[in-house]
Amino acid sequence: MASGQFISFEGIDGSGKSTQARALAQRLGAMGAEVVLTREPGGSPGAEEIRSLLLTGDPGRWSAETEILLFTAARRDHLERVIEPALARGQTVITDRFADSTRVYQGATRGDLRDVVDRLHGLMIGREPELTFIIDMDPAVALNRGLARKSGEDRFEDFGLGFQETLRHGFLALARSQSDRCIIIDGNRPEAEVAAEIAAQVQARMSQVV
Ligand code: TMP
Repeated sequence: MASGQFISFEGIDGSGKSTQARALAQRLGAMGAEVVLTREPGGSPGAEEIRSLLLTGDPGRWSAETEILLFTAARRDHLERVIEPALARGQTVITDRFADSTRVYQGATRGDLRDVVDRLHGLMIGREPELTFIIDMDPAVALNRGLARKSGEDRFEDFGLGFQETLRHGFLALARSQSDRCIIIDGNRPEAEVAAEIAAQVQARMSQVV
């Protein structure tokens, strides 16, 4: 039986969620928690290889259906090799994206495929975080920030602003439908202010993390 806590960060491209995931990991680590900070797609050697297939190249390189299979394959490897073992050791796992990204990007934005996403998730993953922070952010600001990084992993940013706006609505709708574990955080504020709110929410909801 897994005993550690599982926390995910979600949001549109350039929303600042990676910065916030890192900040929370540092804060909990400084308080004495054993934390594993990880990310999707990726987080294990095999899943990192699948990541580069997914995030580089033309926007039309894969159909939404193929993406669902690739993201789920990467997630299964990440879960088996990194997440489940860490939770079983009692560690806190903080992941920068998890299954909600597939629900919103492939299930609701790239296509109307939510049912396929849910069925595959049930078959191959079957786990949800205890707590999910959805960093909400103005899509125009977030897109400029994401593209300015020139990371070479811009396949989804290259779908444009309308795509990011649809994603934003998808994340907000998902948060409302799974309000027991999802908390919407206003990301249009200074980083430190956002980080303080997230830390307060973790402490209020998860006294056993530290
Ligand atoms: P990142 O920029 O946060 O590292 O995420 C990589 C990109 O992959 C981002 O544009 C969102 C996208 N993505 C999906 O489309 N579906 C998924 O299931 C995941 C995990 C990410």
